[in-house]
Amino acid sequence: MPRRNKIALIGAGNIGGELAALAAREELGDVVLFDIPDKEGVAKGKALDLEQNGAVLGYDVSIRGTSSWDDCAGADVVIVTAGVPRKPGMSRDDLLSINLKIIRDVANNIKAKCKDAFVIVISNPLDAMVYEMKKMTGLAKSHVVGMAGVLDSARMTLFLARELGASAKDVRAMVLGGHGDSMVPATSYCTVNGIPVKQLISKEKLDAIVTRTAGGGGEIVKLMGTSAYYAPASAAIAMARAFLRDEKRLLPAAAYCDGEYGYKDLYIGVPVVIGRGGIEKIVNIELTAEEKANLDKSAAAVRELVDASKKL
Ligand code: APR
Repeated sequence: MPRRNKIALIGAGNIGGELAALAAREELGDVVLFDIPDKEGVAKGKALDLEQNGAVLGYDVSIRGTSSWDDCAGADVVIVTAGVPRKPGMSRDDLLSINLKIIRDVANNIKAKCKDAFVIVISNPLDAMVYEMKKMTGLAKSHVVGMAGVLDSARMTLFLARELGASAKDVRAMVLGGHGDSMVPATSYCTVNGIPVKQLISKEKLDAIVTRTAGGGGEIVKLMGTSAYYAPASAAIAMARAFLRDEKRLLPAAAYCDGEYGYKDLYIGVPVVIGRGGIEKIVNIELTAEEKANLDKSAAAVRELVDASKKL
């Protein structure tokens, strides 16, 4: 009998709860919802609510809330949202020192209990957190990835669809670079069913969408007082599904570059293929001179943040 997949969700807050709901609904595997001892009741309560939800909706997986790392042992996929989210007026980088401590704690436990897992990091500032995760766990670069590009591309997809009066189902957008103000919407790869968007939209409108995409997270923080959780959770689940079902999906994600795109020892958003081998490859695509210059700028911003975290 093949055993069921096990998905450990580290952080049972807004994104963690939505991750559990999605993973359960898709029956991707049994779910462990982990949080610190102070929040164990929240983790257990959400888990029970979601198991009962299955009795209504007709899914049946085990969902367990816990504050014990032993329950996460042997997970196939670990998705990390542990940390604090932004408040209005904060940049993702403002979270560095507080979330770095949390990621180090989480990484030590992953190293001890989940050494075969595919680890997807969501905590911000994303590129620095995922770098730290890889460094501390010592896991292979194929098995530690950051979720940002799928979300940022989804935001851009929606803005393009609304502007063009097109269906979001037909729009494809590709956002590369760091998950911050310097992110790089690669407009030459944005299409509506294969038609380059540049043929369908004015430069001014496209520029405005690029700007809105880069500030897309902040726009929601300003409205809600905390950061987004539905789309971030769906984006990470798409990556987890690609791994668990060996889908070989080509997605933008924060991956460890070891020479790719001219970057060494750096996590940054690039197109990757995700299958049962984890990040099976980084895909080298042609960029316009402007896109490459912007990617270089973004890489420099990420490196600055990683250097800052090395001093903390
Ligand atoms: N181990 C596990 N969980 C932890 C730890 C830890 N060491 N420290 C904090 N947490 C938990 C918190 O107790 C909280 O329940 O992480 C959870 C985070 O949940 P929320 O505060 O609701 O934040 P959320 O919106 O889910 O965002 C989490 O993802 O997108 C990023 O910027 C966002 O860094 C933030 C993270």
